[in-house]
Amino acid sequence: MSLSVQQALSTAARRLAAGGVADAPRDARALVAGAMGIAPDRVMLERDAEMPAAAAARLEEYITDRLRFRPVAQILGRRMFWGRWFKVTSDVLDPRPETEVLVAAALEGPAPRRILDLGTGSGAILLTLLAEWPQATGIGADYSTAALAIAGENARALGLSQRVEFVAADWWRGVDLARFGRFDLVVSNPPYISHGELVGLAPDVREWEPEAALSPGPTGLESYREIAAGLAPALTAQGRAYLEIGPTQGPAVAEIFRAAGFDRIAVLPDLDGRNRVVTIHPV
Ligand SMILES: C[S@@+](CC[C@H](N)C(=O)[O-])C[C@H]1O[C@@H](n2cnc3c(N)ncnc32)[C@H](O)[C@@H]1O
Repeated sequence: MSLSVQQALSTAARRLAAGGVADAPRDARALVAGAMGIAPDRVMLERDAEMPAAAAARLEEYITDRLRFRPVAQILGRRMFWGRWFKVTSDVLDPRPETEVLVAAALEGPAPRRILDLGTGSGAILLTLLAEWPQATGIGADYSTAALAIAGENARALGLSQRVEFVAADWWRGVDLARFGRFDLVVSNPPYISHGELVGLAPDVREWEPEAALSPGPTGLESYREIAAGLAPALTAQGRAYLEIGPTQGPAVAEIFRAAGFDRIAVLPDLDGRNRVVTIHPV
């Protein structure tokens, strides 16, 4: 039996809601759009059209996956971040809208020549900054070689391969400053959820995203300590650093960097007023 796009959308939303998916109407629209190969904002314009059989079959697979709490970005294999598509698999963190706060803050500063992204994952932050600053080059470092492979694919898809290099590193171990020189801008969205908080995460995150991208250890602050310990020799005299943080971590992260010898530290909120980014500026 053939369905209209509107009927397919309503049925998908109802099934997802019944299966406990948190924002079922939004996800249904994204999955219908993905199944049809159109942008989500076109779904309502096509609502009276008949859902093609191949799209309906794809949608059925997508709904089955979503009912297992597989994230929409992993089902569709991509996520829009700062207006560009990034390939997403279970090897990388699904780039979050919150991380666009860090990108926006960094873009307000002067254009850097050299950027370092620690824990680059899909490359979302670094590749966005390189696309926005056409004169810049960058290094993306990550512990996960599987993530680095995805970041490389994203760089190629965005036409940025010539200006970026990806390296396997355990924070600073593997970032060869003798070869790369110092950086005008260091960015990072490190794992910052404490081990204890992992059990409270939604199944979409807990069961499908890489644990190493989520939690650095018992306190959630371990990555910041590592980054703070090696930051000074990696920055140029005017170099700046922007780090994403969990909403309650502002004072603790600022203190970690103060103890490491930095004193121009600011904590920036997101649009909802929650602390999201710590910035470190030159003295
Ligand atoms: C929260 S994810 C951020 C990914 C991406 N930058 C973004 O914002 O979407 C953290 C990233 O840090 C990486 N990571 C975890 N431990 C690391 C370590 N010891 N050294 C380098 N990278 C690490 C993870 O593999 C993951 O890609």
